[in-house]
Amino acid sequence: MKHSVSIIGLGYVGLTTAICFASRGINVTGIDIDKQKIRNLNKGNAEFYEKNAQKMLQKVIKNGKLKVSDNFDAVKNTEMSFLAVNTPSKKNGSMDSKFILAATKNIAKIIKEKEEHHLVIVKSTVIPNTTLKTIIPTLEKITQKKCGKDFGVVVNPEFLREGNAIYDTLHPNKIVMGSDSKKDLRKLKKLYIDFYKKLPKTVETNYSNAELIKYVNNSFLATKISFMNFVSRISEKIEGGDVEIIKKAITLDKRISPLFLNAGLGYGGSCFPKDLEAFRQFCIKEGINPRLIEDTIEINNSQPLTVVKLIKRRFKKLNGKNISILGLAFKPETDDIRNAVSITIIKELLKNGAKIKAYDPKANNNMKKYFGKKITISDTSTSCIKGTDCCIIVTEWEEFRNIQPERYIRLMRNPMLIDGRRLYNAKKYSKKIEYHAIGVSYFN
Ligand code: UDX
Repeated sequence: MKHSVSIIGLGYVGLTTAICFASRGINVTGIDIDKQKIRNLNKGNAEFYEKNAQKMLQKVIKNGKLKVSDNFDAVKNTEMSFLAVNTPSKKNGSMDSKFILAATKNIAKIIKEKEEHHLVIVKSTVIPNTTLKTIIPTLEKITQKKCGKDFGVVVNPEFLREGNAIYDTLHPNKIVMGSDSKKDLRKLKKLYIDFYKKLPKTVETNYSNAELIKYVNNSFLATKISFMNFVSRISEKIEGGDVEIIKKAITLDKRISPLFLNAGLGYGGSCFPKDLEAFRQFCIKEGINPRLIEDTIEINNSQPLTVVKLIKRRFKKLNGKNISILGLAFKPETDDIRNAVSITIIKELLKNGAKIKAYDPKANNNMKKYFGKKITISDTSTSCIKGTDCCIIVTEWEEFRNIQPERYIRLMRNPMLIDGRRLYNAKKYSKKIEYHAIGVSYFN
């Protein structure tokens, strides 16, 4: 493939995109300001756990299809640049554009000197109007060139899920691209046709719709989760209630998809919490009542604490109680603990004087760095559960599914299990041990 692209920002989205493009023959230059990250990537170390990523990275670094650098000059020799830097939250929750702005300025300096047309693709999640009001004016001011004529800009948000990042990049549900220039849209589409062979379903629109789609996508999914957690609170209050039965029945209605309707301890991760807060702030700024988004956030913030309330009610005093936590990552198949509900639960339990033992198949090291000596990190689920008074399933890793009630009985000082992710058959487990599950009547 003749294409040569640069990708600015080698975090989750940027690196996955870079690896996938390079694996299908596109010449990719990855740029990141973090020198240590560049050293690690050059050694074939992806810095995070993601299925197949490490193996594929090593291959494309070795065969030279992916080159990584901390020097923006490398952008010069590429036909287009993907901006994939993070857009973190400011203190008040609104989107902080400092990294995207810095990257834009660096690209602008290159475009200014470059004779050929250059396409800038905004992959980072940016609040509506950012491209029209900040990115394009910045590029035009520095380059003294005209967008849509001398260079192009397309907004192309990313919808990949952590844990499935490579798969989702190679098999996306959809591509969204927004630009005011048909020519620039065509240029990006050409790249994707060459990359995918058969182009996934594609929505072509303008800058602002493309930006908004990303926030609406994430907010809708997060709202589905919070809605079901709200329903779980109701089913906990009614005699014999079970949120899973409710879910099964409502999703037989063809209009209600079962995906993202799993009641549990709430959503975490690097996207939903940050994007919902930024969307909320955007609504406030635009004079739109943000209540719907605020309720989603509020339900999610209080959901992990329902477990701590239950334990406190059950034990009266938590001082000296040993609690085991199975699962620390914000979801299975990742080692990412950003905004993980495990952190909220552990902090609250520690505040109440409990002793914590915790285990995760992939996130142990990250959690060790986060909590230091405040908690004990176990090497296996068995040693984690051993001798504890209560065990909470926080992340639904497959390996926890096989732990039979007898094993909890054998290992624990007091076999009390809280299933925060509906991993087990409630009927089977509650016959053998003290079993509580989110969305099953146990508060009454
Ligand atoms: C999300 C979006 O899915 C993705 O499209 C976007 O690009 C980035 O944000 P990600 O954060 O990787 O992806 O994880 P996702 O699989 O969406 O899960 C988010 C959180 O929701 C997890 O904490 C998960 O445990 C929770 N969740 C998910 C539920 O509590 N219930 C569900 O039914 C589904």
